[in-house]
Amino acid sequence: MNPTIELLKSHRSIRKFKDQQIPRPLFEELIRAGQSAATSSHVQAYTLIHVVNPESRARLAELAGGQPYVASASDFLVFCADMKRSTEAAERSGAEVTRGMTEQMLVASVDVALMAQNVVVAAESEDLGICYIGGIRNNPQEVSELLKLPEHVYPVFGLCLGYPDQNPEVKPRLPLASILKQDVYDDSNDEALVAEFDDTMARYYRERTGGNKNTNWSEQLKPLFTSKLRAHMKEFLQKRGFGVK
Ligand SMILES: Cc1cc2nc3c(=O)[nH]c(=O)nc-3n(C[C@H](O)[C@H](O)[C@H](O)COP(=O)(O)O)c2cc1C
Repeated sequence: MNPTIELLKSHRSIRKFKDQQIPRPLFEELIRAGQSAATSSHVQAYTLIHVVNPESRARLAELAGGQPYVASASDFLVFCADMKRSTEAAERSGAEVTRGMTEQMLVASVDVALMAQNVVVAAESEDLGICYIGGIRNNPQEVSELLKLPEHVYPVFGLCLGYPDQNPEVKPRLPLASILKQDVYDDSNDEALVAEFDDTMARYYRERTGGNKNTNWSEQLKPLFTSKLRAHMKEFLQKRGFGVK
């Protein structure tokens, strides 16, 4: 067994943490591991806000839709896409910078995600648990004000880190054939593969909840696409100077 692949395949989100601090040297090492991720044109278009103030943590837990682990995890990071530092550097070196390009927003958002996932894998290799918090985009304006984020910086997601106080099962993933295609996008078998995965997930939920949760993957997706989930994001991003061109 390759221990790295085993580690990756044993990921599960943790939402209950022990009251135990991550030692600062380890915490910093995790962030450095994050910085080693590949980054588009070496731009490193991210800034992490390590939120340590307990009042800010409590407020962020609320702003994220009432997620208590945002406050109770050992550490909470807000991963921000940051086009400020790099565009200013290019400007100081004499470039006539154009800001607000949709491509720049993609570059920064991808950079943030790659960096974060490196932090996650490094943390999990140290027996820490993590939970991403997209819920901070429920109230991105308030989050940005609380963290004093400048223009050309936006909060993409949060990340809880800490010592797990639960041991949930690994959640199944879609069958490989539904997400891995050869040469061209052939979805002729996708409906059957999704039906198969719905059965897998229904079993997973039933077993995990002692029969109390009667749902499947397709059912779980419904609120994501039937409500206007975070319809404020377009205006919010444009106000921050992202994706206006
Ligand atoms: C960008 C992103 C945002 C997420 N936001 C939240 C969140 O706000 N709250 C939460 O409890 N889980 C959140 N999650 C965790 C997902 O629900 C979880 O990864 C998914 O259900 C798969 O489960 P697993 O991580 O245990 O394999 C988020 C995951 C990602 C990647």
